[in-house]
Amino acid sequence: MPDGTAWKGAQGNFPFDRAMADDLATLDGNAATARRKQALLRRLYFAPWLTTEQTALWSGEFNPASVRDALVGRNPGSMTRHRSHPNFPIQIPDLIGVQHRRYPDRTGLQQNRGLSDLMRYAALNQGGDDLSAFGDFTPAAARQRPLEPQSSSRYSDEQLYALAKYLESLQHPPNPNPRNAAAVRGEKIFAREGCGGGHAPPLYTNNKITPAAAFAVPADHRRKYDILNVVVGADPGLTMQTRRGTGYYKVPSLRGVWARSAFEHSGLWRTGWIQGGL
Ligand code: HEM
Repeated sequence: MPDGTAWKGAQGNFPFDRAMADDLATLDGNAATARRKQALLRRLYFAPWLTTEQTALWSGEFNPASVRDALVGRNPGSMTRHRSHPNFPIQIPDLIGVQHRRYPDRTGLQQNRGLSDLMRYAALNQGGDDLSAFGDFTPAAARQRPLEPQSSSRYSDEQLYALAKYLESLQHPPNPNPRNAAAVRGEKIFAREGCGGGHAPPLYTNNKITPAAAFAVPADHRRKYDILNVVVGADPGLTMQTRRGTGYYKVPSLRGVWARSAFEHSGLWRTGWIQGGL
């Protein structure tokens, strides 16, 4: 915040990708370190269905500068989380009110039907990814050192329970924006334009997922998931080409939107641009 205070659970703004770009800049012809970085990038971001151009960022003759170029100007509110790709970054979500979101992740990769799903989310994302498999590719096999039970860790159920209870306990700080005449006019526009169809109060999301333009929805998905039959035209890269992909994007909640700095699934849009440009 402008006064230097920080809110627990607010959208993070540590510039992970810029830090990685700095890190890559220090390789300076050190072949062994470059090989380690190349293996790490493959483990984090490879998917068997990526194009040659996408994997060229780190396969074959490793050129750290090409990965650096993709990361260096990244908006701090978004990052290349594992399972995405340097070309398809993800907005870092705030965690306040996460227990009300039916689909965690912008692509709705996992479901949230209660506390145990939140526990599962933490277990799978922090460490569990190495055990996943995509055809012949497993992140575990892409490790430089093999995954050994004694050297890997998993949070205990007690830890996961405490972590999920903590997430649940997070509260929005008081909203400093007044409900002034402009806000009242805006509410009428919100109603007139049907924004509530996707962002229905009180959660300001209908908690559904929407298919990407090129995605053919399998018939059984309509029974299993809450799908809104509207294609919003978002860039399909993250959900169609990465290991976080499902073919869908979730309808995000607008609660706490005033406190965020990056919008859309990629975090491409910044608050300043919206305030200054719309
Ligand atoms: C145990 C530690 C962590 C917990 C409990 C946690 C919790 C969560 C939860 C619940 C979500 C889904 C929120 C939503 O979609 O509404 C999420 C998403 C995300 N988290 Fe974390 N997280 C942890 C560690 C981290 C770390 C260390 C990073 C950065 C390196 C990170 C970056 C992200 C990103 C980028 C997403 C968005 C993923 C997507 O939309 O596909 N998280 N996290």
